[in-house]
Amino acid sequence: MGREPRRAVASDRPAAAPRPEAGAAVVVPGETSIPVRSDADVVLARRRGRELAATLGFGPTDLTLIATAISELTRNIVLYAERGQIVLKGIERNGKVGIVVVARDDGPGIPNVPQALESGFSTSGGLGLGLPGVRRLTDEFDIVSEVGRGTTVTVKKWKR
Ligand SMILES: Nc1ncnc2c1ncn2[C@@H]1O[C@H](COP(=O)(O)OP(=O)(O)O)[C@@H](O)[C@H]1O
Ligand SMILES: [Mg+2]
Repeated sequence: MGREPRRAVASDRPAAAPRPEAGAAVVVPGETSIPVRSDADVVLARRRGRELAATLGFGPTDLTLIATAISELTRNIVLYAERGQIVLKGIERNGKVGIVVVARDDGPGIPNVPQALESGFSTSGGLGLGLPGVRRLTDEFDIVSEVGRGTTVTVKKWKR
């Protein structure tokens, strides 16, 4: 924790180096930002994510996994932070295409992140399978949370 999530990778390259260094993710044009306040936004974010992933060429199984991950992250925003934002974008790294989902809120934050990632841990009487499930369903998972400041979860899934 304490480390800023690495974002907007394409724009923090020095201007003198127009080509990405090996391993850098390049942002594919088209970023969608969805404000999240209600259950209706959970449905919308899920659908938008699925549409973007379909455009990027993900297969049916991955479309479902991506939609499920977005659903869980968006639901957590509504439930624990009341409001926030989902950002969706296509990315490319070393010739591989992927999707990145950023779920961001300025809510209460998570006091013990490792505990929140354990299967079955819930402060709301839920199943406690959301965050561990999202981690399992995605290829890259990053969570930054600070009590009183908010939570940002960034996940990536690469096309196989
Ligand atoms: N965006 C968030 N803001 C604050 N706390 C969160 C957030 N997302 C998850 N949490 C905390 O992490 C716990 C585990 O989340 P999750 O795995 O989705 O299970 P569940 O939602 O079923 O409780 C939640 O019970 C909650 O305490
Ligand atoms: Mg949850």
